[in-house]
Amino acid sequence: MNFPTEKDNVGLRELLAFYAEAGVDEALTDEATDRFAAFETRASAAPATRMAERIQPSQADAARDQNAGRQPIKASGSAPAAQVAVPDEGQVALARQQAAASATLDELREHMAAFEGCNLKFTAKTLVFADGNPQADIMLVGEAPGRDEDLEGLPFVGRSGQLLDRILAAIGLDRQSVYIANVIPWRPPGNRTPTPQETEICRPFIERQIELANPKVLVTLGGPSAKTLLNTTEGVMRLRGNWKEHVTASGLAIPAMPTLHPAYLLRNPAHKKFAWRDFLEVKARLRSLVDG
Ligand code: URA
Repeated sequence: MNFPTEKDNVGLRELLAFYAEAGVDEALTDEATDRFAAFETRASAAPATRMAERIQPSQADAARDQNAGRQPIKASGSAPAAQVAVPDEGQVALARQQAAASATLDELREHMAAFEGCNLKFTAKTLVFADGNPQADIMLVGEAPGRDEDLEGLPFVGRSGQLLDRILAAIGLDRQSVYIANVIPWRPPGNRTPTPQETEICRPFIERQIELANPKVLVTLGGPSAKTLLNTTEGVMRLRGNWKEHVTASGLAIPAMPTLHPAYLLRNPAHKKFAWRDFLEVKARLRSLVDG
């Protein structure tokens, strides 16, 4: 047996430091996964079919792209697949296609689990789809799972989730009377901020999830969720406490209350009073919607 030399150890230490900096901060399995081998196998399996599938948008996607002033992505015809670079817009189009093809939340979860267009999937341990009751009147949407959520496969189970549970309890709600999800369903490595590109790729999924759950009221938790779902660039401090609308792809307008993220409240407890006011607004709105 060859024992590692001091030189090997230095190399290993440097490699581990590199991983830690890149946000790879946890061993998920005992055996390392050779991603290069997996990639080569997949690439050589049926490249033409795979790539054609990836870049073939539906007619609905093409129409939507045109409405948004973008060029629809064209299928590559007979171009050799290995030479075709997959544009990011292709992943967004594919996500839209998969989201639109989901008739139920279960189907959406399956499509998301099979989706390979977002790099975050490959560093996350689990798909964090949702928690709570999809029939609930209220849906809450955060930014992205953290370490605890990634390990459990459920949103808001860590410290900020515990605070969220206390806030919900204060207005008479619990996990069975709300539905909870995130804009991004995979943990970004090292809890880094998701890139705008990752957000755009995941956007069709959360939008479809909201549409299928069809809550009476939507609550966005934190700035990134508000910006993504309410189509605004305004800061959350200005947005919070004011009713907005989330408009679904089919044109349904859902009342939405932007509020502060529980993780932010843990760091800034003096601002809990703002979140408290926002949730009282939500409670009053729910009551008026239910009582008619
Ligand atoms: N923060 C989020 O935005 N979502 C979670 O699920 C956990 C922490």
